[in-house]
Amino acid sequence: MLDWLPQNVSTYGGDIDFFFYVIYYITAVVFFLVAGAMIIFLIKYRYREGRKALYYHGNTTLEIVWTSATFIAMIVLALVSKPLWGKIKQEMPPTDIVVQVTGKQFNWEVLYPGPDKTFGTPDDYQVDNEVHVPVNKVVRVMLTSKDVIHSFFVPVLRLKQDMLPGRQIPAWFQATATGEYEIPCAELCGFGHSGMLGKLFVHTPEEYEAWVQATWPTN
Ligand code: CUA
Repeated sequence: MLDWLPQNVSTYGGDIDFFFYVIYYITAVVFFLVAGAMIIFLIKYRYREGRKALYYHGNTTLEIVWTSATFIAMIVLALVSKPLWGKIKQEMPPTDIVVQVTGKQFNWEVLYPGPDKTFGTPDDYQVDNEVHVPVNKVVRVMLTSKDVIHSFFVPVLRLKQDMLPGRQIPAWFQATATGEYEIPCAELCGFGHSGMLGKLFVHTPEEYEAWVQATWPTN
């Protein structure tokens, strides 16, 4: 059951998947209990000639039990997932590989700071829809938008973050396998939303060096 999750090439992807499974199985158990009870009651209390309906006001104990069980489950899930949330969304591991990605209808505008590692200088390199990174290195992506809300989504990295106009939102990842992966937009942003698709290129160190040399030849 549940082997349809995409390939995972992210250092924190396994932890995300673990929580996904936990919540998935809790939901599945509750679903079958509720649906099963419904079917049993439908059959057991179906119309029978001469049987009178019974007025029943409810059961306070039962109401308290399932309300507090749900409440406790939610609180426990929140507390248990908090360290992982902090690790992914709050603590940004240090790195000198920073890429700026700007959502715009309907492309990802990718800006590299160049050899001087500073944005807004002449050696910046800008390209649409291509994110080049080395494998096994921490990469920080600064996310923003030019127009409406987009969502930067890299399924294989288990990374999804909204991009808002007027705000810089940092995110990070560390890819563990080389390859070409899709970057779809995950927020309905207009008529071209479904075609808003970029590519993440995770290179070997040699390939990455070659790409750097080709992009900044004077370096
Ligand atoms: Cu950008 Cu949907």
